[in-house]
Amino acid sequence: MAKSVANPPFLRPLHQLEFLRCPRLSSKSQFHPRRFRSQTQSIIRAISAVAAESELGTQQDQAIEADIFACPVCYEPLIRKGPSGLNLPAIYRSGFMCKRCKKSYSSKDRYLDLTVTAGLRDYTEIQPARTELFRSPLVSFLYERGWRQNFRQSGFPGPDEEFKMAQEYFESAKGGLIVDVSCGSGLFSRKFAKSGAYSGVIALDFSENMLRQCYEFIKKDDTLSTTNIALVRADVSRLPFPSGSVDAVHAGAALHCWPSPSNAVAEITRVLKSGGVFVGSTFLRYSSLTPWFLRPFRERIPQGYGYLTEEEIKDLCTSCGLTNYSSKIQQAFIMFTAQKP
Ligand SMILES: C[S@@+](CC[C@H](N)C(=O)[O-])C[C@H]1O[C@@H](n2cnc3c(N)ncnc32)[C@H](O)[C@@H]1O
Repeated sequence: MAKSVANPPFLRPLHQLEFLRCPRLSSKSQFHPRRFRSQTQSIIRAISAVAAESELGTQQDQAIEADIFACPVCYEPLIRKGPSGLNLPAIYRSGFMCKRCKKSYSSKDRYLDLTVTAGLRDYTEIQPARTELFRSPLVSFLYERGWRQNFRQSGFPGPDEEFKMAQEYFESAKGGLIVDVSCGSGLFSRKFAKSGAYSGVIALDFSENMLRQCYEFIKKDDTLSTTNIALVRADVSRLPFPSGSVDAVHAGAALHCWPSPSNAVAEITRVLKSGGVFVGSTFLRYSSLTPWFLRPFRERIPQGYGYLTEEEIKDLCTSCGLTNYSSKIQQAFIMFTAQKP
């Protein structure tokens, strides 16, 4: 169950908070003007950040601010109470709340749960098998320990090469905020964070166990524990970001796992800024090596993976208004990109 974040004064309208009448920006705040400029506009709509002194007199970087995260119910930017910053310790110690829905969100098991179902007591939802599969602890554990290596047999070039290809597509989004949607155990999120090419990386997945694996991998790597990386549980069809707030969205080997690729691509388009870049990879329904007489047998099976053709992927992107579509194909592997005009 989601913990309720501190009640008053946090829940009081901002103008009633005494210390906000003459806000003082902390030099450590991510919203300090100088840092804000240098983060190339990736952190959005900060309305206020203050350095507050705790009752014990210790100086802490406490912030009450409209965050980069939005409510998955109404898309209103969440108000955050706690240390500022897009890193694991700061997010873990922060509480988030939607002023409109009065719903609160907090970190659970090291990831911030921003699903609509976060904190529900009685209702549980079963997703299609292709989503549920990856929620299993065993599959999550095995994913980076052999499961993903098998993708090579279908033409996937391997994580290092795929990362290089994606980075080339993301050239114009560098310096901005990147969301690694359906990050799994964070194979690419960690590479994006390590590259230092982005002001912030959000590793986002629906699977609690994948996010736990992701946390374990980050913990083992000293260079990552204080980097600008956040772990978020969310549904790709209900992304917890305000519209037009994200510079880049990556979705590696994921489209075939989504319950509704059309809702997902529409959501990705909604959260991208104008000029923002979407890069995805997946298995094609047919590879160039699939003989024509076998193709009818590769039609989509309800509840199985949702493999698409290249034409369908392009159609999805363009029907959501994305432009500059291009792709690279190797057997059943496709990496495609499209941009929000
Ligand atoms: C094959 S893994 C890909 C992991 C990683 N991106 C990679 O390139 O190896 C597919 C991921 O999609 C996630 N997924 C499935 N349904 C989802 C949904 N509705 N919203 C967000 N992620 C979802 C799964 O939890 C899983 O981690």
